Amino acid sequence: MIPADIRKDFALLSEVCYLDSAATSLSPEPVLEAMLDYERTSRANAGRGVHRIAQQASRKYRDAHQAVRNFINVREGEVVFTRNSTEAINAVAFGFPWQAGDQVIATLLEHHSNLLPWMRIRDRQGIDLRLLTPGQDGTLDPAALAEIITKKTRLVAISQASNVLGNVVPVAEFGKICHDYGALLLVDGSQSVPHIPVDVERMGCDFLCFSGHKMLGPTGTGVLYMKEPCLEPLFVGGGGVEKVTAAGYTLTTGYERYEAGTPNISGAIGLARAVEYLETLGMEKIRQHEEQVTTRIIDGLSGIENVQVFGPGPGGNRIGVVSFAIRGLNPHDVAVMLDGEADIMVRSGHHCCMPLMEHLNLPDGTVRASLHCYNTIEDADLLVDTIRIIAANF
Ligand code: ALA
Repeated sequence: MIPADIRKDFALLSEVCYLDSAATSLSPEPVLEAMLDYERTSRANAGRGVHRIAQQASRKYRDAHQAVRNFINVREGEVVFTRNSTEAINAVAFGFPWQAGDQVIATLLEHHSNLLPWMRIRDRQGIDLRLLTPGQDGTLDPAALAEIITKKTRLVAISQASNVLGNVVPVAEFGKICHDYGALLLVDGSQSVPHIPVDVERMGCDFLCFSGHKMLGPTGTGVLYMKEPCLEPLFVGGGGVEKVTAAGYTLTTGYERYEAGTPNISGAIGLARAVEYLETLGMEKIRQHEEQVTTRIIDGLSGIENVQVFGPGPGGNRIGVVSFAIRGLNPHDVAVMLDGEADIMVRSGHHCCMPLMEHLNLPDGTVRASLHCYNTIEDADLLVDTIRIIAANF
């Protein structure tokens, strides 16, 4: 059980029914306090100065790295902080030592952030890009990867959970196939890491990317896990150097190598506090709680005439993301009505997944309700009741 009183930690919940956590989650008071505490009491640069405030800031920043590493069960040096998943995926696409003839495999399920970087290296560097096609409910069959993967495949990029259809992809099975062919596996964990227990070792991926702002942390924070430091850093400059002379430079090893410039220190501290908050609630409990609320939404919406619910059917492995449409109504109009009629916040449109929408033949996209640990059965009922009224009257 998720304690109902956590809702008091999220100020906005007293004003609105927030069902847009796949876009960005809310941050609880302890996260805001941790960031403010750094700003008030330890505001100095990290990893640079020797005065005591700089040392406090450095320690907090190092501790933030450690908290995130522990959360996904990886070792020192394997995690780099970025601004978001998009930056993390770009760091791989543009830092990887590609060779002529290399192939990348992604899927039509992907968010633009796990698609455009690969399209760009296809267009600029001649990488051969292949896309797997999901079923109408988002299902991706590992056998489809086995059919097209070759010894030329260097990397397979796949999201662990769809931000549109909510289905969870069996990434470990994809990982086994990749490794049989010597290919690396990149997992976009933007929608999974905030909601389900994720253990990198069990998943067997080589890169994992996720954003802090979808997991109760601040905006402008993200994470790139990499098993081997095989990337060329995208940025070089202040920090992250061993030696610089007039003739050249040597970069440090470890994550500092990939974090040139002053990082988002308060953001990192907030992200670490968010991780602690999630761990205290328990990721398995969060998953179970969100499953209950999701089932309530799907059951409720499925019983309304003219409402079509997308994604896996009953018993499907999914996160708390429910896409739906009301026949004859544009999803944006539905979202505006939900806000106006019942203070319900949802996302509408293509959800940064235009190729998927084309594949699903949904040119206007969907309405999407997405949850986090703070949502309740009452939120689900309010959404369903309001959709019932909208569907009956328009
Ligand atoms: N990736 C975010 C979403 O799905 C922005 O809404």
